[in-house]
Amino acid sequence: MCGIVGYIGHRPAYPILVKGLKRLEYRGYDSAGVALIDDAQHLNIYKTKGKVSDLEAFTQQKDTSGTIGIAHTRWATHGEPCTANAHPHYSSSGRLALIHNGIIENYAVLREKLQTKGYTFRSSTDTEVLVQLIEYIQDLNQLDLLTAVQLALQEVIGAYAIAILDREHPDQLIAARKSSPLVVGIGQGEFFLASDATPIVEYTDQVVYLDDGEIALIRRDQPLRIVDLNNVECPHEVKTVAMNLGQLEKGGFPHFMLKEIFEQPDCINDCMRGRVNVDGDNVVLSAVIDHKERLLNAKRFVIVACGTSWHAALIGKHLIESFCRIPVEVEYASEFRYRDPVITPDDVVIAISQSGETADTLAAVELAKSRGAFIYGICNAIGSSIPRATHTGSYIHVGPEIGVASTKAFTGQVTVLTMLALTLAREKQTIGQDEYLYIVRQLVRIPEKMKEVLLLNDRIAQLAKIFTYAHNFIYLGRGYSYPVALEGALKLKEISYIHAEGYPAAEMKHGPIALIDAEMPVVVIATQNGLYEKVLSNIQEIKARKGRVIALVTKGDTVVSQIADTCIELPETPECLEPLITTVPLQMLAYHIAVCKGMDVDQPRNLAKSVTVE
Ligand code: M6R
Repeated sequence: MCGIVGYIGHRPAYPILVKGLKRLEYRGYDSAGVALIDDAQHLNIYKTKGKVSDLEAFTQQKDTSGTIGIAHTRWATHGEPCTANAHPHYSSSGRLALIHNGIIENYAVLREKLQTKGYTFRSSTDTEVLVQLIEYIQDLNQLDLLTAVQLALQEVIGAYAIAILDREHPDQLIAARKSSPLVVGIGQGEFFLASDATPIVEYTDQVVYLDDGEIALIRRDQPLRIVDLNNVECPHEVKTVAMNLGQLEKGGFPHFMLKEIFEQPDCINDCMRGRVNVDGDNVVLSAVIDHKERLLNAKRFVIVACGTSWHAALIGKHLIESFCRIPVEVEYASEFRYRDPVITPDDVVIAISQSGETADTLAAVELAKSRGAFIYGICNAIGSSIPRATHTGSYIHVGPEIGVASTKAFTGQVTVLTMLALTLAREKQTIGQDEYLYIVRQLVRIPEKMKEVLLLNDRIAQLAKIFTYAHNFIYLGRGYSYPVALEGALKLKEISYIHAEGYPAAEMKHGPIALIDAEMPVVVIATQNGLYEKVLSNIQEIKARKGRVIALVTKGDTVVSQIADTCIELPETPECLEPLITTVPLQMLAYHIAVCKGMDVDQPRNLAKSVTVE
């Protein structure tokens, strides 16, 4: 969580920093701040509670000059969201300013140590300890800033991406990374620094991704230098990032979430491009072919993920077990990493993450790697930490997802999992040729069917108005639709703040049925597949208790419409591909309910897009 930006060059830094913060606001938006060194070598720090727009308003009459600066948008961990806890934090002398993304776990010990030396603290954050510690070490031993940073970081336990300004050295910026992402952009006589490449791509496509334990010494008009904590030079590779700026704008939509919902047909085509052949009769995921032996010989697959990606993992389990007959376990990364799981070199661990930066998923990957498992990543953000930590993997290629609620990443993940299952099943010969061809051909038709579903947007917007009264929602599905029910419920709760539960439909009678009354909206995925009759009985059970049923049905269904209060008709598709279709109306329903309730859809309270803390 938290977004950090830095700039050093020949242009005014402030507009670049603020624009960069807006791109990173998905990482947190509790408070924002900026530090700049002006021509007279004054270090000006401005910070405020709230969003980047609040910072802009606050700085309107202030001196924001300077061609070097750092800026931060915060998602609070230690210390409530308030101006005192906003970054940048500065050292006792006011000479150093520091921004931080991550958590300093031993901050209490360090703080106590510094307090005994006479240091006082202005905030209740873990970060302030770091800037004070650096200054303390620097002053005590009369060291240059780089050496002081190296020594300070050797005392620190935790995760960090930091950037530091020194008023006395207005031509240098120091940045360091451990377990939190950091990218340096290299322009013509200027450098950029950010938590991801989105604030940088407007100015340069040349970037260096810092690795754990690396410190970047970024100096005006000098080459970039990267060293480790022991001052050993680290060779670095300059990469070219390809990102279309349009992907970072709303493109006429009122919210990123709606734009991203509507992008899904194109995203799924992008995801399949070069993987499903033009005739639609063959799927090849190159990572599977390249590591065929390792994957085919796996005794078991374990999928680790969080949130929406975990829901995609549940669908992946169903796909891989059905098509490949390999046992699959799905784990919350946060549980997996702390319970000493049984993982052996015979296992393949699949890590799913949109951001590629989720701290728990990354830690689960490192743990599984240390036990000899082969790690396969399914991520969206190119060059992020998880793809770099895995042995191989497949990007979902759906473009940057900015809305905090994950939409196109989910359908992209499910598409990759489908292609993975099909490629493996073909190699393992666990799928018949006819079935294989049928599924591949139907997969190719998904984008066109998604477009059909998107035509329901206005109708779903009308429907949403009816349900703004609700304080609770239940979502039910069976088989492939159970994870979709979970995902529909998560979408609703995170952006509308309505409590929602997803359940396997048949489980309802083991408890949740007690909640049903005439007030309770129940969304049921009741498409015509192998479990249709069973779901029909579940709907009857709800209606018998006067629940209000919103059913997702297959086009032409005449049975459910007799019982349900509302039916949303969807194009027919094979059961294993249904999640790609049924998820879309649930995304739209959550979106419109949240809009009707006047919620901040793209930046819901308490959340951040990328959870880089445990
Ligand atoms: O970037 P990741 O896919 O690893 O993120 C995992 C979750 O934090 C994420 O899916 C979260 O649940 C979304 N806000 C859901 O919409």
